[in-house]
This record gives sequence, C-alpha cells and structure tokens, in this order.
Amino acid sequence: MEIEIKHELPDSDWEIVSQTLKAVGMAYYEPHVHKKAFENSHTSIFVYYIGRLIGFGRAISDGVYQAAIYDVAIIPEFQKKGIGTTIIKNILSNLPSCNFILYAMPGKEDFYRKLGFRKMKTGMAVFRNADNMKFRGFTE
Ligand SMILES: CC(C)(COP(=O)(O)OP(=O)(O)OC[C@H]1O[C@@H](n2cnc3c(N)ncnc32)[C@H](O)[C@@H]1OP(=O)(O)O)[C@@H](O)C(=O)NCCC(=O)NCCS
Repeated sequence: MEIEIKHELPDSDWEIVSQTLKAVGMAYYEPHVHKKAFENSHTSIFVYYIGRLIGFGRAISDGVYQAAIYDVAIIPEFQKKGIGTTIIKNILSNLPSCNFILYAMPGKEDFYRKLGFRKMKTGMAVFRNADNMKFRGFTE
C-alpha cells in the first residue's frame, strides 16, 4: 500500500481528525480545537492514502530532552497495516535526543511495547475529567 507521510498541517481535514478520534473511542473535540492542538505541537504526522487522510499522531516537546505523544489514531479500515508503526517511528526519529512518554488506551499497550516502550511505575496525572478516566481504566 503506497502511503504519503506529511509533517505539514492540512488546510482542511480537521473534521476527519475529530471523527476518527471519536470512531476509535479516543477523546475528541470540535475540529478547530484539534487544529490548534496540532499547531501547538512540536511534531505532527499525517498519513494519506490516495489523497485521503487515514492516520495521524503528534508529539508535544521542548525539542531537546522531553516529549509526549498524543492523538495517534488510524481509521479502522486501515489499522494493522503498519501505519501506526510508521507514525510512531517518524515521531521518535524527529526528536532523536528526547525521552518519550505517553499513556496507551487500555488494551493497546502491546502495540507500544513492540516499539520499545516500557511501562512506567510512577506515572502520575491530573485529568480534568478524572472520574471518566478512572471509569475507562486509565487511573486507579
Ligand atoms: C493502536 C493503533 C495506533 C496501531 O496502529 P496500526 O497501524 O493498527 O498498527 P501496526 O499495523 O503498525 O501494528 C504494529 C504491531 O502492533 C500490533 N498491534 C496493533 N494494534 C494492536 C492492539 N490494539 N493491541 C495489541 N497489538 C497491536 C500489531 O499486531 C503489530 O504487531 P506485529 O508487528 O507483531 O505484526 C491503531 O490500531 C489505532 O488507531 N487504534 C485505535 C486508536 C488507538 O488505540 N490509538 C492509540 C492510542 S494510545
């Protein structure tokens, strides 16, 4: 499958970002909110297949030693074809001196494990929607 990988933010397609995150059960917002989040990120990756946006991901970072990965999602029909791996590898190689953290969707840990991620023992978080994040299995 021939895919195109872009770091530049798309002019449109923010509706697809919102819809994809919703479809895969991740937090989603109005399209303009995602646009702002990606604009304010250090590294953004967008994957296209025949001109159609099919996956994306981003990292916030100081650009030197710390980074965090968010909003990695592939449209369901294009999952398990190596696109998620491509996105993560692109993000990691774009910030070669950084440590990376992320929190995986419950059940998706093995995807990240295969890419070299290890479970953190002391990860802590303040979530605005704390009850919901507990209910969904992210926190104690
Ligand atoms: C999780 C996700 C990003 C993985 O991307 P993908 O393109 O489907 O995965 P890849 O094809 O690159 O898979 C790479 C490896 O991870 C494994 N893998 C993929 N999804 C997995 C999952 N849900 N659970 C466990 N392993 C998984 C694959 O089997 C593959 O293993 P292999 O190399 O031994 O064959 C994608 O399925 C997705 O968008 N899921 C819904 C949203 C989501 O959960 N995002 C992550 C938020 S933390």
